[in-house]
Amino acid sequence: MSEHEYNAASPGASRSLTDGVSVQETENQEGIDFSINGNAVSFSGDPEKPLLYVLRNDAGLNGPKFGCGVAQCGSCEVLVDGETVISCTTPVEDVAESEVTTTRGLGTSDDPHPVQEAFIEAQAAQCGYCIHGMIVEAAALLEENPDPSDEEIDDALADNLCRCGTHDEIRTAVNRAAEEMN
Ligand code: FES
Ligand code: FES
Repeated sequence: MSEHEYNAASPGASRSLTDGVSVQETENQEGIDFSINGNAVSFSGDPEKPLLYVLRNDAGLNGPKFGCGVAQCGSCEVLVDGETVISCTTPVEDVAESEVTTTRGLGTSDDPHPVQEAFIEAQAAQCGYCIHGMIVEAAALLEENPDPSDEEIDDALADNLCRCGTHDEIRTAVNRAAEEMN
């Protein structure tokens, strides 16, 4: 096992998490403890490693995307304790004892979050590269402001770039989700 694999708090067996995170339990190894989509994990490795790399390369979660790597596009956004965070420039040590949520933690294909459902209904994705960040940002917006205006939606998503230009469909999707949730 590499030093970057996940280690559960108690030593012994290994298990698979529902969203593809593989947890290997190891004795006598201190790690950075946090949770991903409700699953407790402990990361043993470089504490300055970007959270995005841990999520994608170590946890096998391919929702958050590497777009720019310099906090300029929003494709890597995740929720940390309910707040949106740019994961490409956030060291994993910064999420110690926190709850990290990706789109897989928001909802599943059997039980999608209203925002996920609305993005599908509005056909808001073209290539889909930006969509993880858009959904995370929209979910956080509706949590804080259940009935946003178009301008408030545009403001909230202003730092999430869509190269395919689906911003109109995305705004429609966020409005649909707001209606569904109210
Ligand atoms: S990849 Fe993180 S903001 Fe672009
Ligand atoms: S759907 Fe392609 S970048 Fe947004």
